[in-house]
Amino acid sequence: MKNLGILLSGRGSNFEAIAKNVASGEIRDARISAVLSNKADAGGLAIARQLGLNAIVIPSKGKQREEHDREVVAALRQAKVDLVCLAGYMRLLSPWFVQQFPRRILNIHPSLLPAFPGLEAQEQAFAYGVKIAGCTVHFVDEELDHGPIIVQKAIQVLDKGDERTLAARILEQEHIAYSEAINIVLAGNFEIVGRKMVMTLAAEKGPLP
Ligand code: GAR
Repeated sequence: MKNLGILLSGRGSNFEAIAKNVASGEIRDARISAVLSNKADAGGLAIARQLGLNAIVIPSKGKQREEHDREVVAALRQAKVDLVCLAGYMRLLSPWFVQQFPRRILNIHPSLLPAFPGLEAQEQAFAYGVKIAGCTVHFVDEELDHGPIIVQKAIQVLDKGDERTLAARILEQEHIAYSEAINIVLAGNFEIVGRKMVMTLAAEKGPLP
């Protein structure tokens, strides 16, 4: 049984989807041992409390990045977290934090990376006029929205849609993609070659060509 630690700053819909899939067994052999936020009023924390999970607040305001990260890592260690999942955690991790959990920190981003890193990715994609949009779950490295990609989901941008409907349709895919990525990482049937995550043969699905 592996322990997941969720870090979030806001609404928490990705966390909620992960929690649902842990409860149903869709995410296998895992439990959520900590839900941690840098914002006391994050909606995701209220959901965690309702679900009876270990909800932790470590305010970031007024703290140096690494000072805050040291407190967060101490709390994750106390909860014996094996895999850290950033789910709308709106803080850049310090290199020190990244080194504490090598290849064991995941992030979800609402664009097909490397397009549109940073804030308001869905709005950036809509304004650019792309025809295909989507989301990415990737390992966290020391650069923003950058590490090896685990899962991507793509959708068509509809002419009749707007920024809001596009963001909502991407979010639906996020809720599917994150659990898939967690299962892949927990199963461990992959290797990282350069910046590529390559599935090893045992994990390959589907009919042979
Ligand atoms: C999600 O769309 C997630 O992809 C995005 O924040 C939102 C959080 O929603 N993350 C980033 O933009 C990270 N660069 P949620 O709180 O409902 O899961």
